[in-house]
Amino acid sequence: MTSYDPDGLTSTPAWGQLKDHFADSGQAHLRDLFGRDARRGQEYNVSALGLYFDYSKQRVTKETIELLIDLAEQRQLRDRTEAMFNGEHINVTEDRAVLHTALRLPRTATLEVDGQDVVGDVNDVLDKMGAFANRVRDGEWVGSTGKPIKTVINIGIGGSDLGPVMAHEALRDYTKREMDFRYVSNVDGTDIYEATRDLAADETLFIVSSKTFTTQETMTNAHSARDWVVSQLGDKADIAKHFVAVSTNAEGVSGFGIDTANMFGFWDWVGGRYSMDSAIGLSTMIAIGPDGYSELLAGFHEMDEHFRTAPLAENIPALMGLFGVWNRDFLGCATVAVLPYEQYLKRFPAYLQQLTMESNGKHVTLSGTDVTYDTGPVYWGEPGTNGQHSFYQLIHQGTSIIPCDFLFFTHPLNKVPAVDAPDHHDLLVANALAQAAALAFGKTAEEVAAEGVAADVVPHKVMKGNRPSSMFVADKLDPRTLGKLVAMYEHAVFTEGVIWGIDSFDQWGVELGKVLAKKIVPVLVDGKEDASLDSSTLTLAARYRSEQ
Ligand code: F6P
Repeated sequence: MTSYDPDGLTSTPAWGQLKDHFADSGQAHLRDLFGRDARRGQEYNVSALGLYFDYSKQRVTKETIELLIDLAEQRQLRDRTEAMFNGEHINVTEDRAVLHTALRLPRTATLEVDGQDVVGDVNDVLDKMGAFANRVRDGEWVGSTGKPIKTVINIGIGGSDLGPVMAHEALRDYTKREMDFRYVSNVDGTDIYEATRDLAADETLFIVSSKTFTTQETMTNAHSARDWVVSQLGDKADIAKHFVAVSTNAEGVSGFGIDTANMFGFWDWVGGRYSMDSAIGLSTMIAIGPDGYSELLAGFHEMDEHFRTAPLAENIPALMGLFGVWNRDFLGCATVAVLPYEQYLKRFPAYLQQLTMESNGKHVTLSGTDVTYDTGPVYWGEPGTNGQHSFYQLIHQGTSIIPCDFLFFTHPLNKVPAVDAPDHHDLLVANALAQAAALAFGKTAEEVAAEGVAADVVPHKVMKGNRPSSMFVADKLDPRTLGKLVAMYEHAVFTEGVIWGIDSFDQWGVELGKVLAKKIVPVLVDGKEDASLDSSTLTLAARYRSEQ
């Protein structure tokens, strides 16, 4: 077996063949592709694990898919996948294993990494989380004055926030509704102020979630939360009853004043954006209960196994990743819209932004060489149908091609009675289908003119179409399905990263801003002079300071 060459993408035979193929037929219109093949809608899809992935509206043919699969093989996707699942240090710049998949292994599995029994460690933490979650849910865990906890506030940012927030929204229907769950992330004081202003501290539990326990925003918010508890409860304030921590940094946790007996650990082999199913999911577990959480993990694991074992032609995350490369590097698409037709998934696009962009927003390969092709696109989106009345105009008629990921469920979680009116869910799904069809097929000038539209208005009403999209369909949103969906995107991102030869698991690009912010604080607060800062920053800082 030859070793993986991160710099080898453009010299693979498949890359050259894809270039020729694109030049020959890459511009074919979806109208023609569907016209030529009456069975395209029936054939260009994969069903697995209760998910239906329709990729018939991607701008690909059978030949494109074969070449993309050749590319995956020539880029050793299988070997790289095994390297990840087996705990090799594939995060080379941090010299770490990448083992979020171990967080959802069944209890009976075995995996030893760097001499450590990973499955045993994971389950010890899960058991501790379960016991704690039950105590909070059952009202056995009481605050300083003996009252049960009514509100749980997770303080964290990035991966220590977005997963818990997204999962809480997604699984709201499965949460203990008598309790309230809130999330504080922004260092803007408004975030913690609004999260606490109407609460009684003696009924509030804070989960301080930070892998490093050094993140400026999280530590600032945690200190403010502690001050808020003390200011309400005075002498009665028993901090240990109102603060628990999720972290890899026991020293930092005890330094803050949280008893490490109330700390839930994880490991450096869990990246922040891959951590929603680690102890970072403690608020999720309290909200949906340990059984619901086990379902979530089971969904993740099912998708892990699918990704690891399904043939590439039937492998949902692998195909998604390959279409991602095709759209980015051959069609030149710089952004991807994620459009869930499910209100409970309203934070899913925000969650995916960190997962995709922090992972694949890289300009050098694993060897440090500048890439000569485009890597991760911008991800963004909103739940349907709201986006239709704001930004879809640009997707339909703008000058950029924006691939869209549509998603809907065949059963709603809330069947709202409609008397003498169309059913909400039928309308929701009809809109998802309509948008994908309009994007793919558009409307020609002839079709517009045939409707009697004045000649000078015709060009304005033409929709060129040929805008690619994927459609994901599942039965209904539940914890297991959410686990599958998140793991599906994780592995699609991984697939792209392997093809591009980049490190999808580091995030050095966020460091410089953090360092500069630390430097600027004394300039703003104490008027410290710092000649290393630029004149624009210094002028803005002086202006701020003069207004204080
Ligand atoms: O700044 C980026 C980042 O390091 C993310 O990768 C991470 O999810 C987030 O900050 C929060 O980090 P921590 O959990 O250590 O507070």
